[in-house]
Amino acid sequence: MKQSIIVANWKSHMTESDASEWLKGISETLIKDLQKVILCAPFLLLSSLQEQIVGEKLPIDLGAQNISPFDEGPYTGEINGKQLAEYVKYVIIGHSERRNHFHEDDTMMREKVTMAQKYQIMPIFCVQTADTFIPKDVEIVAFEPIAAIGSGKADSPENANEIAKKLKEQTNIKKVLYGGSVTSENVKSFTSMDHIDGVLVGGASLSPQDFLQIIHNA
Ligand code: PGA
Repeated sequence: MKQSIIVANWKSHMTESDASEWLKGISETLIKDLQKVILCAPFLLLSSLQEQIVGEKLPIDLGAQNISPFDEGPYTGEINGKQLAEYVKYVIIGHSERRNHFHEDDTMMREKVTMAQKYQIMPIFCVQTADTFIPKDVEIVAFEPIAAIGSGKADSPENANEIAKKLKEQTNIKKVLYGGSVTSENVKSFTSMDHIDGVLVGGASLSPQDFLQIIHNA
């Protein structure tokens, strides 16, 4: 059986006590599962999540949802790669919500990728089409068509697979994930595709039961 990468993107949801309850909700059964699970949580929750994950030896890697394009320095309000590297192995960069609401452009995304790589954090770089600019050396890409995000209208697995195939023709890209309205019902239709290595899950990752079901069905 192929191992899939299942990424939870909590976006701007969850408090510290919600996060702790969530982990309790998935911990026991998760240990027996074979998928690779990455939890991308809000910055403020990373420290307590790390403590709980290490303490309970849970097979979950932590990721961030953003990173400063700058190194440490006079950048009020920013969280930089050096700070994040104490907690996370992964960071989501290029999500369409950051492009739309925070006006992040290709240059800024390239700077963020450079900073992540400087601190050995693996970028999960989101693209909205097969032609979206991808900075050099990115190895994990998530294909997330905008119309599929949070809409309940996932892309077709066949189309996502075609795009994944095309993306992998670019040098360095080793893994392609699909994201956009992934549920426990449709996850397998994506992970069973030849060129899709996993999924990025937003809304359905907030409930531990739903997320566990996605992991089991993947
Ligand atoms: P969704 O979000 O699963 O809620 O559609 C996916 C994403 O934005 O990463």
